[in-house]
Amino acid sequence: MNLRRISLLLILLLATAVAVDAQVTKQPFGKTPDGQQIDLYTLRNAHGVEAKIMNYGAIVTSLKVPDRNGKFDDVVLGFSDFDSYLKNDPYFGAIVGRYGNRIAKGRFTLNGVEYKLATNNGENHLHGGIKGFDKVVWTAHQLTTKAGPAVALTYLSKDGEEGYPGNLTANVVYTLTNNDELKIDYTVTTDKDTVHNLTHHSYFNLAGEGSGDILNHVVTINANRFVPTDAGSIPTGELKSVAGTPFDFLKPMAIGARINQDDEQLKFGNGYDHTWVINGRPGVMRFAATAYDATSGRVMQVWTTEPGVQFYTGNFLNGTKTGKSGKAYERRNGFCFETQHYPDSPNHPSFPTTTLKKGQTYKSTTIYRFSTKR
Ligand code: GAL
Repeated sequence: MNLRRISLLLILLLATAVAVDAQVTKQPFGKTPDGQQIDLYTLRNAHGVEAKIMNYGAIVTSLKVPDRNGKFDDVVLGFSDFDSYLKNDPYFGAIVGRYGNRIAKGRFTLNGVEYKLATNNGENHLHGGIKGFDKVVWTAHQLTTKAGPAVALTYLSKDGEEGYPGNLTANVVYTLTNNDELKIDYTVTTDKDTVHNLTHHSYFNLAGEGSGDILNHVVTINANRFVPTDAGSIPTGELKSVAGTPFDFLKPMAIGARINQDDEQLKFGNGYDHTWVINGRPGVMRFAATAYDATSGRVMQVWTTEPGVQFYTGNFLNGTKTGKSGKAYERRNGFCFETQHYPDSPNHPSFPTTTLKKGQTYKSTTIYRFSTKR
């Protein structure tokens, strides 16, 4: 190779590196009450799709995707300033853990020892307790990957935190792929047997956050069965067929079509707030659910290796939180597809296990894929 060719190659390499680098930027977003610096990472893919993620709670604060005419809107609920996230009781955009969803009475037994967790949802434990993974500062660094811009976040949850055994290390990588996917890769390890169930808690509104309710979104869920609960949203232990119930989303159906039916499970959940048992083999990446908004043409597909997906229709939103565009988020202004293991698994030996053994590495991936249709 002559000198000219080598320098051309170098320029080319440099240009690519600069272009790729430009896809992730970092800016200060605020400070926690104890003075820790919070940064916001902006990921932008080759099509201009943009996600903003912060190192507090590993929270996705914004996700801008095009509609069928190429107009970008932010399709996740959230706040415009950091301080509002300190009172983020709906868990907007967060990674929840150590155990996403509920553990009955905050108790479970592992290796013959009973562990008592913080109870923060009536008598039950919810989303990791009083200070779950959504309320802690993660260590973050930006990555440039072949698939697209990414941010890697790590949190070490100490032995005894919120009552859980073991030092647990959670690593979450968000990649905004050039296929317009928000891909979440989880890697979890522990130095002592424990239980875990991390999930992602974005509230979506494909018509744009702040644009009203999601009842006209048309949803499909790839599940023949769901996990019925008692009045406190704790599983009864049964995996029930969706056939003939308002929980049958095997064929596309508007969220609002049956949500007010006289159905005990809908009453217990105040709407949909249940885990569906995704068809196919847990551990294998497969189609979980899709949502379509006819006004914008936006489609979101959810793919996962997890056994279940909690479909929650924002039933507890009540107008007391003001969102990014200055509008109050009312009941059912967003919905979540939280891919996860079933609630209260540590107390249901028949459910897929949420036990992580000392020295084991747990890996899991979920993809939210965006597109449009006419
Ligand atoms: C969901 C859960 C709901 C509610 C919500 C937060 O994941 O299923 O019952 O707790 O989080 O408001």
